Amino acid sequence: MKLNCRICEVTVQPFMSFGKMPIANGFLTPKDFDKEYFYELKPGFCENCLTFQILEQPDPEKMFHQNYAFFSRTSRRMVDHFKAYADWVKNEYLTTSNPFVVEIGSNDGSMLENFSKKNIRHLGIEPSSNVAEEARKYNVNTSCAFFNLTTAEKIVSEYGEADALIAANVMCHIPDLHEVAQGIDHLLNSMGVVVFEEPYLGDMIKNTAYDQIYDEHVYIFSTRSVKNIFSKYGFELIEVKPQPTHGGSMRYVLARNEKRSISKSVEKQLNYEDENNLHLKGTYDLFRERCELSRKNLIDILQKQKSNGRRVVGYAATSKSTTVLNYCSIGPDLIDFISDTTPIKQGKYSPGAHIPILSYEELRKGYPDSLLLFAWNHKTEIMEKEFSFLEKGGEWIVYVPDVALIRK
Ligand code: TYD
Repeated sequence: MKLNCRICEVTVQPFMSFGKMPIANGFLTPKDFDKEYFYELKPGFCENCLTFQILEQPDPEKMFHQNYAFFSRTSRRMVDHFKAYADWVKNEYLTTSNPFVVEIGSNDGSMLENFSKKNIRHLGIEPSSNVAEEARKYNVNTSCAFFNLTTAEKIVSEYGEADALIAANVMCHIPDLHEVAQGIDHLLNSMGVVVFEEPYLGDMIKNTAYDQIYDEHVYIFSTRSVKNIFSKYGFELIEVKPQPTHGGSMRYVLARNEKRSISKSVEKQLNYEDENNLHLKGTYDLFRERCELSRKNLIDILQKQKSNGRRVVGYAATSKSTTVLNYCSIGPDLIDFISDTTPIKQGKYSPGAHIPILSYEELRKGYPDSLLLFAWNHKTEIMEKEFSFLEKGGEWIVYVPDVALIRK
């Protein structure tokens, strides 16, 4: 089958396949096991516009709906991060007297509540109604919709043009960036900025963090790809800022051409990407080989645990874990259950692998021998919280950047 780049439409060949995948956040009950939806997860790299992307994706309605299972507030550090992010946008880019900020994919309002508390005019656009409802509890003005030109027209007619359009871990979820760019162009005033941050391709490649690749992440951006994508719509990249979140992210700032000065950070990051060959196809062939090795090493460790009669429990039913579990064919034979703090996931089963998801309280009733860390991007926060696990002789199994055991 011929597959085209979603950005520039030239033909792109997948450089690997992770096999049949279910919806990453599609936690389910046994009555739905035989109706479960699968698609083939195969990433590709476009040598023309240099955009890393997955080449087949389920319909957005299958992923973002009234039962969407991801709530930003589940991580205390992410809540702190969004406060710092909001303050940064305000201090650096909101210089007019009565600014208006729009966030797309505003989730449970963790970012916008920081504007709301300062009485800054704001609006969240969020397609999943359950998380949008949660945001309203925090006084965050939220509209339940996908962001496109029609949505932008409605916003402008009701509130006027915006000074900033912000997003976090959202742009990489949107297959049709053309629609988003048209909406942005309509929404922003002449000095307006677009600020978004997303998992960074450079970190994913460096750490073999292949679990960043799942249905919702249709793109994993680099500085070069963001620059190329938005240049078609009259926007230029004016600043980039690396972030530690999600295991390595990048914040991008765009403005209309020649309206604002360009920070040296842009050139510095482009040079980093060239030096690390992110623009070359061969880099992705090497990445595939490292994914295969990681899979082999993880299965080996889990099988050894099993044959030594050790109990393994998964820590956090992340979206990322769906890629790992299904790519490595890890099921309830190797992992007893996965502990997770999100109520909507508890009592359900993991997508595809069908491992039970139990509450965090269940884990605290009695630690297993080993914990497999799926939320490796929250490692510092989790290691602090589970300090006593290692003290009591437990061991962590980690797989990013390498498969390893952590003991006291
Ligand atoms: P995250 O890495 O943000 O998830 P994703 O891969 O879906 O982007 O982690 C969020 C999930 O991890 C969420 O289901 C809650 C769970 N979690 C815990 O169970 N305990 C914790 O201490 C943390 C930080 C997260």
